[in-house]
Amino acid sequence: MGLVSGACFAELGHDVTIIDIDPAKVQAINEKRSPIYEIGLEEQLKHHVESRLRASVEYDSVVSADIIFICVGTPQKSDGSANLSYIESASVLIGAARKDIPAYCVVVVKSTVPPGTTENIVRPGILQSAQKTVGEIGFAMNPEFLREGRAIEDFMHPDRIVIGSTDDRAFDCLAEVYHDLDAPVIRTSTTAAEMIKYTSNAFLATKISFSNEIGNICKKLGIDVYEVMSGVGLDHRIGQQFLNAGVGFGGSCFPKDVSSLISLAKTFGEDPHILKAVMEVNEKQPNRLIKLLCARIGNFSGKKIAVLGLAFKDNTDDIRDSKAIPVIQELLQRGARVAAYDPMAIPNMRRIFPSLEYFGSAAEALNDADACLVMTEWPEFGKINKEFERMKTRVIIEGRRILTYDDVEGICW
Ligand code: UDX
Repeated sequence: MGLVSGACFAELGHDVTIIDIDPAKVQAINEKRSPIYEIGLEEQLKHHVESRLRASVEYDSVVSADIIFICVGTPQKSDGSANLSYIESASVLIGAARKDIPAYCVVVVKSTVPPGTTENIVRPGILQSAQKTVGEIGFAMNPEFLREGRAIEDFMHPDRIVIGSTDDRAFDCLAEVYHDLDAPVIRTSTTAAEMIKYTSNAFLATKISFSNEIGNICKKLGIDVYEVMSGVGLDHRIGQQFLNAGVGFGGSCFPKDVSSLISLAKTFGEDPHILKAVMEVNEKQPNRLIKLLCARIGNFSGKKIAVLGLAFKDNTDDIRDSKAIPVIQELLQRGARVAAYDPMAIPNMRRIFPSLEYFGSAAEALNDADACLVMTEWPEFGKINKEFERMKTRVIIEGRRILTYDDVEGICW
């Protein structure tokens, strides 16, 4: 998110320095290579590095910056709550860098953080280490709504720009940065901005779990949930997006942010029934896939299962919270041989499962397979056809609706 935002700010004409603690990432960016896969990102680095964009491990550029964005991770702790230690350390380092600088600057929290973090952790952390008082540094909260794989498109064409700030000067500075983007700017309190991000992700995750639950019911009734949801989604009050039923949501945001919101609610004695159900449906979908496979092929022991798709979704090599992980774990535990293929995510999955059989194409993974599970909505899987004839037995189960082959069953369709 930091890299995409930095590159897009450079695209909008701003002078940008990206700060990261990882020297390898910094070097890659300065050599115009993207350390992550993201459509259009490498082209932007080629355009702007050596002119408006650079990366550094040092905080030097903070000294002269007009605006400083905090984009560090807020990973999930074992109790589901957000770990804010990177936010805290970034705040102290930013404050220290601004200590003897008389000029005004704005510090903007872009990371997804629990409501109150900007006011109660970032602001005092920075003011204390900078030895400054309110007004000398401005503060704002400006959540991002970028989807991995389509992050640049989302940045350049946002549905809305949310700026949480009670400080007029900080708000004006930040609104100016986005001046060339054609999107409504919503001004809120910092806590409301923080909550908007959590609520957006929780609502989208709810749409998915809701579609999965309806899908599970439809499957029992012999109804195609995709036909149902296309009829439902045409109601403009509902909308067609994020109604794709399947094996559930993964990635670095939805599972973490819904869990964090649940954990936050609990600290106030709230028991968030809907959010808990969203997570429960999501966690159970992979078991349904395994149960379905078991119903079709019986015992897994010694059987070769082709797993197509390892990334948590298409157009990324990211496997964080990918639904392929619990499914592969279960297959291995029950003695299956797993033949895996993904256009991008094999190197990442190899770190978790070093001994799987990995293949360079879907066709190779399907050779002599007793069954095939589709775990990611990669568009190229829609073109697989005669390759399925290489299987020993043609049991093909989709966890994502992507195949066009006839003889296929879906997890909930
Ligand atoms: C999400 C939000 O969309 C984005 O606004 C936020 O800033 C970060 O989190 P991302 O995690 O990159 O983005 O992916 P997204 O496209 O939202 O998909 C998340 C997961 O939901 C994937 O596993 C995807 O396969 C799944 N999904 C998505 C469904 O199962 N059904 C759908 O209809 C849509």
